[in-house]
Order: sequence, then C-alpha cells, then structure tokens
Amino acid sequence: MPDAIILGIESSCDETAAAVVRSGEQILSNVVFSQIATHLPYGGVVPELASREHLKAILPVVRKALADAGHTYASVDAIAVTQGPGLAGALLVGLSYAKALAYALDKPLIAVNHLEGHIHAVLLEERQNGNQFVNFPVLALVVSGGHTHLYLAEQKGEAWSYENIGHTRDDAAGEAFDKVAKLLGLGYPGGPIIDRLSKHGDPTAVKFASPQIKHPDRKGRGSAADGRPHFDFSYSGIKTAVLRYIETNGLAPAIAKRREALSAIAKPKFEDYLAGCEPATLNLVASFQRAMVEDLVAKTLEAAEVYDAATLFVTGGVAANNELRRHFEEAAAQQGLPVFFPSRPLSTDNAAMIAAAAFPKWLTKDFAPMDFSAEAGLQLRRA
Ligand code: KG4
Ligand code: ZN
Repeated sequence: MPDAIILGIESSCDETAAAVVRSGEQILSNVVFSQIATHLPYGGVVPELASREHLKAILPVVRKALADAGHTYASVDAIAVTQGPGLAGALLVGLSYAKALAYALDKPLIAVNHLEGHIHAVLLEERQNGNQFVNFPVLALVVSGGHTHLYLAEQKGEAWSYENIGHTRDDAAGEAFDKVAKLLGLGYPGGPIIDRLSKHGDPTAVKFASPQIKHPDRKGRGSAADGRPHFDFSYSGIKTAVLRYIETNGLAPAIAKRREALSAIAKPKFEDYLAGCEPATLNLVASFQRAMVEDLVAKTLEAAEVYDAATLFVTGGVAANNELRRHFEEAAAQQGLPVFFPSRPLSTDNAAMIAAAAFPKWLTKDFAPMDFSAEAGLQLRRA
C-alpha cells in the first residue's frame, strides 16, 4: 500500500486544528487551538465569534502542525478538510484555506465528514498501537456536543460505508451536559467539569423517570432495508427535569452565589468549582451523569445485539467521560464485545482524525472538486 502524508484541517466548531498524519496510522503532529476562553462568558459557542477566531488562528495552527511534523507545504501529499457537519461560517474558514492551499500547491484536496473523522480517530490510534485488525461490522457511537449517532460501519476494499441506525431526536448528549452545567452555573463546556464533580456526589440521590430520558425506538420504520429497529436517543427531557429539580428543591440561591464567586476568579480551577458546590448540586450532577451514561450504554449495546456488531467504537467529545468508559467496558465485556475509545485528546475535536479519515479516500482517489462547499448539515451515508 502506498504511503501518504496528509495535512488535515478542522474548523467545524470551536477548535481550530491542523495535523499531519502518515497513511492513516501515524500522527506526525497534532495541533489544537481551543476557543473555550472566547465562548466561556456566553455559556456556549457563539457562531460569529467562532468564525473570527478561526480566521485568526488558522495560519499559525497549520504552520505549527507542519513544523512539528518536520514537513513543509511542499512535502505533504494531500490536504484534507472538514466539509461538515458544523457551523457554516466556521467550516468555511478551514475549507477556503484548504482550497487555496491545494490550488496553490497543486495537491489533491479531500473533503471529510466530521463524524467519519471521529470514527477514524479510533482506528488511527489502534493502528498506531500496532493493532491492524478490526472485526466487522463495527458499531460506532459518535457522541459529542452536536451528535449522538449510531453508525454501522463496513470496509469494502479500501472504501468505507456507513449506515445510520439511530440518532438523537432532540439534544445531543454533550449538549445536555453543557446545558445542565450552564443551568447550575458551572461554566462551559459542561462535560469535563460534570465528569470530575460527579466523583464527589451520590449518583443514586436523584431519580430521573424513564420518559424523561427514553425515546421509543422506531421499530421497523427506520431506513434499515430489512426493517430492523432504529435506536433513537432523546436528551432534552432530562435537562428540563434538572431545571425542575432546581426549582422544587430551592437550589437557585446557591447557584447564584456560585456564579458570582466563580465570575470573580479569572481562570477558575477544578478546586474552585468543587468548593463552590454544595452536596445537593454534587448529587444532582452525579445522578444526571449516571442517567445519561446508563441510557447511552444500554441503547448502544441493544443495537449491537440486534445488528450483530463484532466491534464497538465509542468516540466524540463525550467519549472522554470517565464513567461512560467504565460502564461501556463493563457492559461490553459481559456481552463479549470488544470496545475501543480514542485517547482523550483524540476524543474531542482534532484534525488528526480528519487526516486519518482522508487516507482511504486518497487511496481511492476520491478527491473534492474545487467548487465544493461547506455543508452545515452534511450526513454520513452509505458510499
Ligand atoms: O467532539 P467535540 O469536541 O465537539 C463536537 O463535535 O461537538 O465534543 C464536545 C462535547 C461538549 O459538549 C463537551 O461538554 C463534551 O463533548 N465533553 C464531555 C467530556 N469532555 C468533553 N462530556 C462528558 N464528559 C467529558 N469528560
Ligand atoms: Zn466533534
């Protein structure tokens, strides 16, 4: 198989990222510039600000990725870029830059679906660790701030194909973590802080009723040709349940106090958040996390059984969650199913996964025409 050095560029949300990866299996550099500080005061990503930040960061980030890898613009074989899904204005920054680069250097340009990138983050690391083999079909749960999607992935020759067998009907899991953290005055993004705070709370303290988190599966009505069910998720109800719990248990004054205390600290550390949380909040976040994790794990494993998956991938920002990993490992082992996660830096948005997902397209010469554009709602479909 021929070798290829691919420069990957990612700008779909609030991370400006560039990476150089050899043949989908060796990371030569991986640079991520996070805009968290810019969006923190707003408790979420502000699209207009994200585009502006990408514009400022893209050039230095790409230059650093090349320098770290010991490569130059001239020495890479292809440029890969995220086409979607994501914020249109943010995507356009990376895409325009990648296009200009490919045109000026006369190199192939490869358009990558961000969700395919998350799936290939797992493969990239497994290959890097010497594990070349994976049994198909792979069931991949892509669980992030924008997505909670289940894909059945197959490899035919060098090309990959994906069938969506479930997705969230409303909020994505990461979005629920972010919104609950915002309600509780815990800053942005919510996932990492809830992950750490939950260790200090009782996950059985608050009970969430199952209709608040469960969505009936579309049995036989999905797009699966053979009428097998789709496994849908729903996380807007649990966010409302948290809001109600705050109201009925009188947590608002403690939240207001915490917001004020944290806003007085320039860069709050985990200890500051912990010190600002009374037991009721710690129990609430731990119970919320437990409910999310149990639903994600149960639904994914049920889908694995119905679709006879041979391997499980769990990827995307929420895959960094410690309890999610632990529960998946335990439950998958009971089902005799191997489960793989990316390392934490490759779980959240990065460009190494984009460069890795581009390699099979480089092999099959699946290059993007110069008139292609960003697609905010790009779907991952069968090839
Ligand atoms: O994949 P990602 O970096 O960006 C998107 O494509 O959305 O995922 C970001 C999401 C955010 O919602 C963030 O709160 C969540 O991933 N996240 C976590 C953790 N780390 C990041 N959620 C739960 N536990 C974590 N440790
Ligand atoms: Zn992502």
